[in-house]
Amino acid sequence: MPLDRVKHGPWAVVTGASSGIGEAFARRLAAEGLSLVLVARREELLLRLADDLRAAHGVEVRAVARELSTDDAVTKLTQAVGDLDIGLVVSNAGTGIPGAFVRSGQQEERAIIRLNVTTPMELARAFGARFAERKAGGLVIVSSAMAFQGTPYMANYAATKAYALVLGESLHEEWKASGVDVLVVAPGATDTPGKDLFPIDYKKLPIKWMQPELVVESALASLGRRPVVVPGARNHLVACLGSGLWTRSRVAALLGEFARRAIPAERL
Ligand SMILES: NC(=O)c1ccc[n+]([C@@H]2O[C@H](COP(=O)([O-])OP(=O)(O)OC[C@H]3O[C@@H](n4cnc5c(N)ncnc54)[C@H](OP(=O)(O)O)[C@@H]3O)[C@@H](O)[C@H]2O)c1
Repeated sequence: MPLDRVKHGPWAVVTGASSGIGEAFARRLAAEGLSLVLVARREELLLRLADDLRAAHGVEVRAVARELSTDDAVTKLTQAVGDLDIGLVVSNAGTGIPGAFVRSGQQEERAIIRLNVTTPMELARAFGARFAERKAGGLVIVSSAMAFQGTPYMANYAATKAYALVLGESLHEEWKASGVDVLVVAPGATDTPGKDLFPIDYKKLPIKWMQPELVVESALASLGRRPVVVPGARNHLVACLGSGLWTRSRVAALLGEFARRAIPAERL
């Protein structure tokens, strides 16, 4: 399904664009003819991707290297793009720390809340106000299949993704009448470089990896049509387990069992 370039263009902002799902969004949106603002910390990756996208699709690209877990991250980002007509924001940058809840550092968990909760909330406020003025726009918030129930040993991460889910569902309804589309994408296991940042023995888990391009495909096919999408039939079924076939607590117990198998003992 092609993107509505009038409503969602001419510029899109993608956070976490240097890798994984964010990079796949950037590549696909450029192929659709949108100009792009690429945001993440690793400037060299952003600059390389910017060159690729300009050469392949003839679009304009601005790389904005930023740490997104600081108090002033969104203020600085909105200043950096104040001159651009932004029609779409993909709020994708996010991370988590697997392991027992009390073992990780308080500062690290706080930074995760800033990156996964506060920054997406502030992005939605800043760009939502602009979209309301132009009576058109789109906001895609990347949550996770972990948002649908408690997830032992990823407790803070799962809670931040539940926030993202409910924020997006709420704004979908609130902004619908003003011509602004809001979509929450809740991916299951996706084969990105991000998964290798964690010392998890994935061979011990019943995972079927999805490619990031398919996550993006599913998101763009759903934008403006529904509030939430869980890409992939298998992931969709698992996400539905807690709200019908099983109870949420039963799904959480199963996820806890899987985590105890795959996370190294010293982190449990
Ligand atoms: N992969 C999965 O299985 C999966 C499943 C469900 C949901 N998700 C969600 O999908 C999103 C993308 O994850 P991914 O799997 O594509 O991971 P990834 O390959 O590690 O990409 C994460 C992106 O976020 C950026 N980022 C991380 N911390 C940042 C910070 N403090 N400030 C600015 N940028 C930061 C990274 O860039 P820099 O390092 O250059 O800053 C990178 O571009 C995340 O929100 C994640 O929670 C992933």
